[in-house]
Amino acid sequence: MSKRHITTTVNGDPAEFLTDPGTTLLDALRDELQLTGSKEGCGSGDCGACSVIVDGRLVCSCLMLAVEADGRRIETIEGLAHGTELHPLQQKFLEHAALQCGFCTPGLLMASKALLDANPDPTEEEARYWLAGNLCRCTGYDKVIRAVLDAAADMRQERRVSA
Ligand code: FES
Ligand code: FES
Repeated sequence: MSKRHITTTVNGDPAEFLTDPGTTLLDALRDELQLTGSKEGCGSGDCGACSVIVDGRLVCSCLMLAVEADGRRIETIEGLAHGTELHPLQQKFLEHAALQCGFCTPGLLMASKALLDANPDPTEEEARYWLAGNLCRCTGYDKVIRAVLDAAADMRQERRVSA
């Protein structure tokens, strides 16, 4: 089967790759673009480890075909930090010890970013509901939720200071 040429934007940079029609976006990110931060936990849309943001919407990259990324804007965990400066979510995950093995963490961080992009001041219930699709076998979730709400508060404060 002939490969398709895909032109997209990944973390603000233009990106091109060749892919088979049946290849998932997750496999293309990992195998064609060497962006291995997004993880495959289940491959069936159940765990959220593969979460990325496409044109501003949170998606499971294991459920999206790479060919569907043509002309789209993709954000992955690799674009979250700015150089050596961690995103507030990453910083708060560290401070709250909101990770253990870390396998779920890239997906949780991208889902959390999508939450705070859509709702900068979520309640605990809203955060828990939003992140319900991201499974973690290690943390028990409380530290994750605390980290997300703490990051949201810091980001709101930062916006007030710079306004
Ligand atoms: S690997 Fe995509 S949802 Fe689990
Ligand atoms: S930190 Fe191990 S699965 Fe979440």
